[in-house]
Amino acid sequence: MCGIVGFTGTRKAAPVLIDGLRRLEYRGYDSAGIAVADGEKINVAKVKGYVKNLSEMTHDGADIEGVLGVGHTRWATHGAPNDINAHPHMSADGRFAVVHNGIIENYAALRSELTARGVKFLSDTDTEVVAHLLELYYDGDAKRAFMKAAARLEGSYSLGVVCLEGPGRLFAMREQSPLILGLGVGENYFASDVAALVPHTKNVIYLDDGEFAELTPDAVTVYDVRGREVVKPVSRVTWDVEAAEKGGYEHFMLKEIMEQPACFKATVEPRIQDGRIVFENFDLSEAELHSIDRIIITACGSAGYAGQVGRYVLEELCRIPVAVELASELRYRNPIIDEHTLLIVISQSGETADTIAAMRECKARGARALAIVNVVGSTIAKLADHVIYTWAGPEIAVATTKGYTTQVAVLDMLAIYLADRLGLMEKARYDALIEALHSMPGKLQRALDLNRNVKKLAKMFKNQSSIYFIGRNLDYAVCMEGALKLKEISYIFAEAYAAGELKHGTIALIDQGSLVVTLACHEPLFEKTMSNIEEVKARGAEVLAVALEDNKQIVSKADYFLKVPRTDPILNPIAQVIPLQLFAYYIAKERGCDIDKPKNLAKSVTVE
Ligand code: G6P
Repeated sequence: MCGIVGFTGTRKAAPVLIDGLRRLEYRGYDSAGIAVADGEKINVAKVKGYVKNLSEMTHDGADIEGVLGVGHTRWATHGAPNDINAHPHMSADGRFAVVHNGIIENYAALRSELTARGVKFLSDTDTEVVAHLLELYYDGDAKRAFMKAAARLEGSYSLGVVCLEGPGRLFAMREQSPLILGLGVGENYFASDVAALVPHTKNVIYLDDGEFAELTPDAVTVYDVRGREVVKPVSRVTWDVEAAEKGGYEHFMLKEIMEQPACFKATVEPRIQDGRIVFENFDLSEAELHSIDRIIITACGSAGYAGQVGRYVLEELCRIPVAVELASELRYRNPIIDEHTLLIVISQSGETADTIAAMRECKARGARALAIVNVVGSTIAKLADHVIYTWAGPEIAVATTKGYTTQVAVLDMLAIYLADRLGLMEKARYDALIEALHSMPGKLQRALDLNRNVKKLAKMFKNQSSIYFIGRNLDYAVCMEGALKLKEISYIFAEAYAAGELKHGTIALIDQGSLVVTLACHEPLFEKTMSNIEEVKARGAEVLAVALEDNKQIVSKADYFLKVPRTDPILNPIAQVIPLQLFAYYIAKERGCDIDKPKNLAKSVTVE
């Protein structure tokens, strides 16, 4: 969703800001703009469409004078995507330019109040009220105006503000929407996402809610909501700029699919010490552990589907009831939760609005929250009682791949860890699972290498209007993610069904030419799944089976075959999803889709 960048230094700001915006493109947006102060005025360039348009309009920023400014990629919430609604927004006197992420919930009331004072609004956005409030409260001190304006705002927002005072002043604020400060040498930066900072610096400060900062080329000063200076720790970003670039791949999605063996290793290996699973920030006492009587997993999208895999594994190994709840439902559902509930919150970005709200709701009812998150310092990580980071590195493609598999890897480890601590796992089984974890990167590489035929299959099925995914138990959980991958990047209707449920409705849709992707890796129910294959074939469907590579039986039944290496059954979903990711990727490619930036979707959904 929306992205913010800010820069102050001694070189031209506009090219730096435009480069920063390019690095935030992956988040999804519909317009882009910059505002740069040149000492006499604030120069604004903004346009509907891509950063490329902004770059062409300004000759990559060369046309714009000034050494400090802000930039923005907008994903429309209030007002259509067009040049006028694009950020930055200016105060009428031209003194302030504002960029904003999030939603100002009381903007309608503020707009009426300002209109009554004679302010003329140019845009339909909620953001514009901020620019006018700044002008209203300006009495010669930009910091005071900034604080007074911020005090009037309700909702979630991060702000970047340029003020034409002296040589120009630059402010950044965080309130329930991410904002990170980057510390350079003779220049300083801010951004809503670390991806825009790493080309310049790895030294960052994560602002907390209600904090704001003033940046000059030589200093960054952080204040609390009342304007008192706050001393903040400087954190070091662990990944480098190459991690957020394509590295020779045609799409980020393909690069990220290919990175999965390495990501799995990065997630898992450091947490196995002397043959035992160790979590850095999950230290339940015996009493706390034994008091857990249920687990609720909450998340959105693929993170929720990772949770579905987690449910099977946690219940199987730990014998604790587990429910997976969509965050957008849970937050409004008056859930039955108390201090005996372990809430597992899963999120790649750590910033998904519904997930945050559901988490707050459950915590208010006493649940202990364990977050499984990729982005360090994100809101969900900050709110949680415990955090296990997935350490997958930056994920740029909107459709998650390595984000999902590392979430499942953490859930698997967590289940093994809890089962062991609860005394439910024999040593031999524990040791075998640790061994299996060690061997997984090799297995995942094999899952990538085994399925060379996937491109051919993609060509064959690229014009399919709908594709059904069926499976049982863990296979069913993986189907959900496989179907989501396909629909979000190829725009083919795809849905997952529990194979045994098919005959209660969905089978009415199956006929000549239907394609049914059947996951058949869960061996205890293999025969049952085979019967489901018979059922759909009898109605004319073609079957693309996803099965263990040494499974000979399925070859005679299925029309086509994607292979999965044999791993411990508990861990198998991570290997199984890989051919499905590749299948979705190559079908989308055949169809000429914008794979990394699917239409209407955003990487991180920070609004409800
Ligand atoms: C968006 C993304 C999905 C993601 C979901 C949850 O819809 O497009 O890929 O699964 O948000 O995101 P999170 O960052 O909370 O994992």
